[in-house]
Amino acid sequence: MKGIILAGGNGSRLLPLTLVGSKQLAPVYDKPMIYYPLSILMLAGIDDVLVIARPAEIELYRRLFGDGSRLGMRVEYARQDEPRGIADAFLVGATHIKGEDCALILGDNLFHGAKLPTLLRRTAAELRGCVLFGHQVAEPERFGVAEIDAKGRLVSIEEKPERPRSNLAIPGLYFFDDTVTDIARGLRPSPRGELEITDVLRAYLAEGRADLVWLGRGVTWLDAGTHESLLDAGRFVRDIQHRQGISLGCVEEIAMYMGFIDAEACHRLGAEMSASPYGRYVMRSARSHQLHPAPDTILGE
Ligand code: DAU
Repeated sequence: MKGIILAGGNGSRLLPLTLVGSKQLAPVYDKPMIYYPLSILMLAGIDDVLVIARPAEIELYRRLFGDGSRLGMRVEYARQDEPRGIADAFLVGATHIKGEDCALILGDNLFHGAKLPTLLRRTAAELRGCVLFGHQVAEPERFGVAEIDAKGRLVSIEEKPERPRSNLAIPGLYFFDDTVTDIARGLRPSPRGELEITDVLRAYLAEGRADLVWLGRGVTWLDAGTHESLLDAGRFVRDIQHRQGISLGCVEEIAMYMGFIDAEACHRLGAEMSASPYGRYVMRSARSHQLHPAPDTILGE
């Protein structure tokens, strides 16, 4: 399965933070925002990822991840000249997907929860059609919203409805089979001029090929697209990390646990950053993995 991280857009809700930089490189506590969505794809078992960004910022992402080999992955890059909509990711990324299944994650979405890694791997392995997730929120009108019937089956999907039919928001993480590129090619821009992800989901739903997976109370979902939510996300990460002595979105550690790299390589990556608590955490994690190679809670139960 291929992965796509959509890291373009104008980041206008974060101005002036985004005047000369990409939103998805903004710090969420101790690491660039994009580490968090990348770590989610990795936990789903995906080691082949396309980063889509604005032309002026592609080189920054390339400097961050290179060709991905340091993490035992393949990372490629593609430009999105204009923010034509989230579903444009499948057109920009068509040659990368090359007729395979793919997972799309928005570069400003963060997820955390003990059951998540298992859920992601199962979703990727059992995918038929498309899978979207549902997460209960206080202000559904800010998001894509899913309506379900009494049996929990998906009935309708709406983008930022004025009068939401449920409080089940659709987070920016989706799994699609190999027909997604064809579906995206058939889309027309919405009244606001964008190729909407909700239209792609609706096309699958109309064919009876869309599954909604409910992210229960055990999963936290945050998007970091405004000043407030960016600060909230940073505080959330800081609090968990300090309290539990673990790191969220630590891509080196996850690469090791997923078997993309060995503990020695992970230790080397940490050592390059040993002046920071993050680097030292990576080194410690590599050492303890060498001593106790049994699966850690990082991969879920
Ligand atoms: O966060 C989840 C929500 O994301 C979903 O519930 C909605 O259904 C979905 O439309 C989206 O809503 P947003 O209002 O958050 O979308 P936004 O336009 O802010 O774009 C989300 C991210 O995708 C953002 O980090 C920028 C990036 N993006 C967006 C567009 C439209 C691109 O890279 N290129 C684009 O063309």
